[in-house]
Amino acid sequence: MHVEKISLNKQDFLYKHKRKDTTFKSSFRTVYNDNFSLKYNTNTCFFRSDLNWKDFVNYLNTKYKNTQKVNIIDFACSTGEEPYSLAMLLDLQLGKDAEKFFPIRAFDIDEDNIDSAKKGIFSIHKTELDFLENNVEDKYKNYFRVLTDNYGVPVWFVSNDNIESKVIFEQSDMLKDMFKIPSNNTVLFCKNVFPYLANGEEYNLVKQISKQLDASSAIVLGCFDISYGIDKLFEKEGFKHTSQYNVMEKLPYHKAVVQNILRTFKIK
Ligand SMILES: C[S@@+](CC[C@H](N)C(=O)[O-])C[C@H]1O[C@@H](n2cnc3c(N)ncnc32)[C@H](O)[C@@H]1O
Repeated sequence: MHVEKISLNKQDFLYKHKRKDTTFKSSFRTVYNDNFSLKYNTNTCFFRSDLNWKDFVNYLNTKYKNTQKVNIIDFACSTGEEPYSLAMLLDLQLGKDAEKFFPIRAFDIDEDNIDSAKKGIFSIHKTELDFLENNVEDKYKNYFRVLTDNYGVPVWFVSNDNIESKVIFEQSDMLKDMFKIPSNNTVLFCKNVFPYLANGEEYNLVKQISKQLDASSAIVLGCFDISYGIDKLFEKEGFKHTSQYNVMEKLPYHKAVVQNILRTFKIK
């Protein structure tokens, strides 16, 4: 399936984006295809600044006020900082009401990322520490043993049971396994991954996600995906932006949604 031209050629887009990327890990890896073109970057960080995390947790709390169980699925979670950020904030902001959101299930295609996430040892950059403190003050200490440098500045976090029990990590390819996720009351993180997919795979994946999820669910995109135009593809499939710009929900009676239902039941 041909994807609409999104303004730049893919490798140019990836290169330009890399130069203004707002993540700060010194340890992220760049993985290349056999022909030396960029396959993906694994960069991420705690409370990456492309989501207003506190408002997002309020949004979840309101949307799922009367729901018993919510499935939070994080595809392309890299080394785990993203699901751990959400787990901390849900726990701190919602207390007992956060239980229905756990465990978060987090996946990445890259075995090394998943091994690293399971080990739970994170190097922390100064800017990332600012992001952490803006969101949870110094309460990250409830979830991580903190190792500091000679000046007392945190440089390594080691996860403890308080957080490890809240996230399950597994290796998985979102192109193959998306059909396994539950349809209702699912919040699907698929942040900052679409531009890395091969031409055509992006739109097929958008369609698959749109078919899979019902109107009780939501998706969370990254700034990288939105500047690549992926939200526009979701709009075509019946999704709309919510008050949280990166978060999209499905319109229950959109033409594309009705067509999907008819296709599923083979009604012409
Ligand atoms: C830039 S990181 C995004 C990390 C995180 N979601 C964030 O926004 O900070 C992109 C990740 O996508 C993963 N990835 C690429 N293709 C994938 C696929 N088909 N299925 C699952 N993960 C994939 C890579 O391994 C990499 O860790």
